[in-house]
Amino acid sequence: MTEAAHMQMNEPEAHFNTTRRPTGPVILDLKNISLSFGGVRALTDISFDVRQHEIRAIIGPNGAGKSSMLNVINGVYRPQQGQIVYRGEVRKNMDCHAAAKSGIARTFQNIALLKGMSVLDNIMTGRNLKMKSSFLMQALYWGPARREEIAHRVKAEEIIDFLEIQAIRKTPVGRLPYGLQKRVELGRALAAEPDILLLDEPMAGMNVEEKQDMCRFILDVNDQFGTTIVLIEHDMGVVMDISDRVVVLDYGKKIGDGTPDEVRANQDVINAYLGVAHP
Ligand SMILES: Nc1ncnc2c1ncn2[C@@H]1O[C@H](COP(=O)(O)OP(=O)(O)OP(=O)(O)O)[C@@H](O)[C@H]1O
Ligand SMILES: [Mg+2]
Repeated sequence: MTEAAHMQMNEPEAHFNTTRRPTGPVILDLKNISLSFGGVRALTDISFDVRQHEIRAIIGPNGAGKSSMLNVINGVYRPQQGQIVYRGEVRKNMDCHAAAKSGIARTFQNIALLKGMSVLDNIMTGRNLKMKSSFLMQALYWGPARREEIAHRVKAEEIIDFLEIQAIRKTPVGRLPYGLQKRVELGRALAAEPDILLLDEPMAGMNVEEKQDMCRFILDVNDQFGTTIVLIEHDMGVVMDISDRVVVLDYGKKIGDGTPDEVRANQDVINAYLGVAHP
């Protein structure tokens, strides 16, 4: 997608009723995070927090460090500096498996599904962390393992109903149009029953109608399951419409943080989006 397309400040066709449950206390606190890859400083001294039940957006131009930030939150990257406090405890040396076990799930900027497998089976992979039976017991389909498998399938079917994808539950994911694949990826993340859901550009490449559907599902997840959501999105209309608070990154630095109205009025943010030269 071009830089110009990424920076669209237009409003979406339809507005959502975003009267939701009030947000709670801080659940995730990122303090002075710095991350470098060799000589590239992806993140420099970034601090912001996420409140329980909030929809928290991260925005910024290409290469600003948004995906790197999500990768820090879910333990894929370990920052060289800074502290992450999750549920009041300083998180030490957490890898992505531990992050997932602690209730953090995510979707990816580039869809990461098993294309030859059905929608149902892809969503079932999201239940892996919740499965107690060993591989051998499952292979033998034995007593408790069988009961467990059935319970997980029921949960996966609930998510399929919620996302309104019953008609394609047996279809191999690779045969689905892009917008539906993104929805299945959301389903796989939901299958882990996360407390915090990290979404990296869930609407990228979608048409207006697909975006509206995805917005509705994100709001419904937030409302019905109480899930806290951290969302990277380039469509400003969507961001301003569904977020409680927005953090703005530019060249790895934080240049804005606040409600959509506050961020919209922030001169540094306006400059970054209009491409004003850096000193
Ligand atoms: N694994 C990596 N190795 C080296 N450099 C990286 C790596 N991941 C990210 N970077 C660099 O860090 C910077 C931030 O990248 P990041 O992907 O976080 O940006 P982004 O805001 O998500 O951009 P986009 O909107 O294009 O997705 C970029 O300069 C990028 O090239
Ligand atoms: Mg990115």
